[in-house]
Amino acid sequence: MANVNTQADLMDKLGSLCKRRGFVFPSSEIYGGIGSTWDYGPLGAELKMNLKRFWWDAMTNRRDDIEGLDAAILMHPKVWHTSGHVAEFTDPLVDCKKCKRRYRADDPALKSGKCPECGGELTDARKFNLMFKTFMGPVEDEAAVVYLRPETAQGIYVNFLNVKNSSRQKIPFGIAQIGKAFRNEITPGNFIFRTREFEQMEMQFFIHPSEDEKWFEYWREQRWNWYQALGINKLRLRWHQHGEGELAHYAKAAYDIQYEYPFGWQELEGVHNRTDFDLGRHMQATSKDLRYSDERYTEKFIPYIIETSAGCDRTLLTILVDAYDEIEVKGETRVFLRISPVVAPIKAAIFPLVKKDGMPEFAEKVYQELKKKFKVFYDESGAVGRRYARMDEAGTPYCITVDGQTLQDETMTVRDRDTMEQTRLKLPQIAEFLEKKVSGQ
Ligand code: GAP
Repeated sequence: MANVNTQADLMDKLGSLCKRRGFVFPSSEIYGGIGSTWDYGPLGAELKMNLKRFWWDAMTNRRDDIEGLDAAILMHPKVWHTSGHVAEFTDPLVDCKKCKRRYRADDPALKSGKCPECGGELTDARKFNLMFKTFMGPVEDEAAVVYLRPETAQGIYVNFLNVKNSSRQKIPFGIAQIGKAFRNEITPGNFIFRTREFEQMEMQFFIHPSEDEKWFEYWREQRWNWYQALGINKLRLRWHQHGEGELAHYAKAAYDIQYEYPFGWQELEGVHNRTDFDLGRHMQATSKDLRYSDERYTEKFIPYIIETSAGCDRTLLTILVDAYDEIEVKGETRVFLRISPVVAPIKAAIFPLVKKDGMPEFAEKVYQELKKKFKVFYDESGAVGRRYARMDEAGTPYCITVDGQTLQDETMTVRDRDTMEQTRLKLPQIAEFLEKKVSGQ
């Protein structure tokens, strides 16, 4: 068996696998698609759900110091003036005077100073705000403008008092949220890497200002470890520290976790020290006292915020890129998606070796039993080798086969997708084994 995977055409192969197997489809495809939005199919939706659960568990359920939140996408428009997004959340944009194409002014393809498509002259750079606007209510005028949130973070800041008071948390504590965000990106692309509609998994940790460096380091380490627990190859991960010119308008310090995609090293998640910028600005704009105090402190203070901000779709892409493997078996190229059992869409497939001698009936019972706890799949069609191959491609880590011996002693083979090892186990042991693997042990 030889590994035939190369990076060069990986994105194309991944795109077609995702379509074929039902991970990701181009949005509104029967209308010709719409730029840069994607729909998750049956396997993709399952994977995304598992990924969000994995993040949510790590951030909230396994901790005592972080609360969850699910804030609205549409917020008071003043939020975005206060946060600085109306004035600052811009990309520099240039237009080609001839063919009217638009580019980000910092696009490396513009090195020559001419349009890379038609050689036409380019306009001067101007600021382009990335927020989508819409109208609230029946009148479409300036007074009715609202924005689709470009980050979920602001929903957390404006609820700081609500969450603190209702949960009785004391500093240091965090608020976590998963939800949609929208950016009118000038150059979306690379499949689901940069899109105009996407989901974020953000956590804001509220601390005393004197402890910002300690907590910044703590969260960098936590987030790095989370990607390891997700099964991402750590040789393809690295830190990138933001220089002066790169820092977002709210940040004092920022590090990105980058991944080495087939199109280069790119940001996967940002860890930011947002200081008291956001709460300070909201306090000024609303005259609400967002300062914190308890018996441990002599003076009230505006908490500093350490933010961890991950893209859900981008992490999903990372899982797929990292998991994609091709192996040549007897002249045939076989695809394996080596997705960790903790997030794999289907945890196990159950096969009768042949469609006779009571094997399908036994396998069906096993399927019905395991289905109570796990996402499993029953398949009796075609040669067993083909069935294995279909599951390898879908990222299913285990295949359970009912064979002649099963009918004698109730043991079944459990085949591991990555080691190809087969172990014989009875149903209660299989359930225990899956439980362990799915919970990351
Ligand atoms: N609240 C801070 C914030 O939004 P960001 O670095 O602009 O920070 C955080 O975004 C994460 O959101 C990124 O690391 C990326 O994973 C994801 N993200 C940002 N823009 C995206 C886009 N257009 N498409 C997909 N994911 C995106």
